Amino acid sequence: MKDDKKSINLLLSTCGILALLSFVVLLLVAVTGAFYLYPAASYTFTDSKTVNSTGKSEPVTSIEKDEVWRAPALSSLTGNPEEKSITYGRELIAHTAKYLGPEGSVLQISNGMNCQNCHLDAGTKIFGNNYSRVFSTYPKFRKRSGSEEDIYKRINDCLERSLNGKPLPLHSEELKAMAAYINWVGRDVKKGDEPEGAGLYEIALLDRAASPEKGKLVYETRCQTCHSENGQGQKKAGATEYLYPPLYGDNSYNVSAGLYRISNFAKFVKANMPLGATYDKPILSDEEAWDVAAYVNSMPRPQKTFKQDWPEIADKPFDHPFGPYADAFTEKQHKYGPFQEIKQAQQKKAL
Ligand code: HEC
Ligand code: HEC
Repeated sequence: MKDDKKSINLLLSTCGILALLSFVVLLLVAVTGAFYLYPAASYTFTDSKTVNSTGKSEPVTSIEKDEVWRAPALSSLTGNPEEKSITYGRELIAHTAKYLGPEGSVLQISNGMNCQNCHLDAGTKIFGNNYSRVFSTYPKFRKRSGSEEDIYKRINDCLERSLNGKPLPLHSEELKAMAAYINWVGRDVKKGDEPEGAGLYEIALLDRAASPEKGKLVYETRCQTCHSENGQGQKKAGATEYLYPPLYGDNSYNVSAGLYRISNFAKFVKANMPLGATYDKPILSDEEAWDVAAYVNSMPRPQKTFKQDWPEIADKPFDHPFGPYADAFTEKQHKYGPFQEIKQAQQKKAL
């Protein structure tokens, strides 16, 4: 009797283990199956440097790590005669909204974004639109204004365009502090030099027009979780700043901002987005970067323009998104491409 019970128990537990094992196997099959069927759903920040989400290989950058610029360490600020101003400038760049946003404690002159949203890591990230070459190249002549611009003018440009706001008064402590910080960041770069890693990462032109329709799919699978379904971003709980800044709509950059040119947007995104991407470990293919740029910049945003921009119309860049133009290409082609013919025509004229 006792023995019978024992063997029944044994049988039952063996069955249990078998059932558990087959459940685990089934689960594994289901998960890997889903992974293959829906590659987009398996989106992670893993190393995708050679194979992007469309499965195509792209060459990894040939820039050597030791060739790229590095920002001075914050600890080296201690004892600097301008330490207070530089530190305040860094704070203003990292948390602009707290001081200059719609509920800013100093002035209410901008849209709630931070400079750092686009000049990543307070303007120190490689190919993250950093400030490495500002001290070394300003003041400089810029074709957009047709004049020599100093760093104050350049900062106010971004305030009026990227932050869709008003300029800071020239004598203000805030403008001086931001300039002091930006100059300090680039202080080791020789006058006239542009170090490797400055500005944005160059990507090849597409041989077709960038597609807002294809870009919408990229947006939905790769951007929406953070920048939200309606592109408005998400505010930090109980704070004046964004956790994820807006990409379009009333609180985003206006049509006169640098990112409204899709080449700038695509280059920024290629080396920096989705969050976690870097120039040597990008997540998007070049095509995805161009298409998502076309999609985002096809959506509504503030329409502020500046009459005094581009006094020489022929100097407008190939992808300037609205006319008048010195050539006969349409506004649509200037905005989305294909760009090769426009560039060729511009080069011919320049000869
Ligand atoms: C929405 C994105 C965005 C925001 C926010 C933004 N900028 Fe910019 N900024 C850009 C882009 C893009 C460029 C490069 C534009 C170009 O070359 O056409 C740029 C260029 C600059 C430059 C010149 C860099 C160089 O290498 O020549 C300075 C200086 C600058 N911004 C300062 C600021 C400051 C200070 C703030 C905050 C008050 C700010 N920016 C906010 C996008 C932004
Ligand atoms: C995991 C969250 C996350 C994802 C996914 C993501 N972003 Fe961002 N994005 C951010 C954050 C955070 C910032 C601001 C960075 C900072 O302030 O340091 C930002 C900034 C930006 C900016 C500059 C600021 C602005 O609002 O104009 C652009 C442009 C941008 N992202 C585009 C994209 C695009 C396009 C995608 C999809 C391909 C994407 N992002 C996916 C988190 C994300």
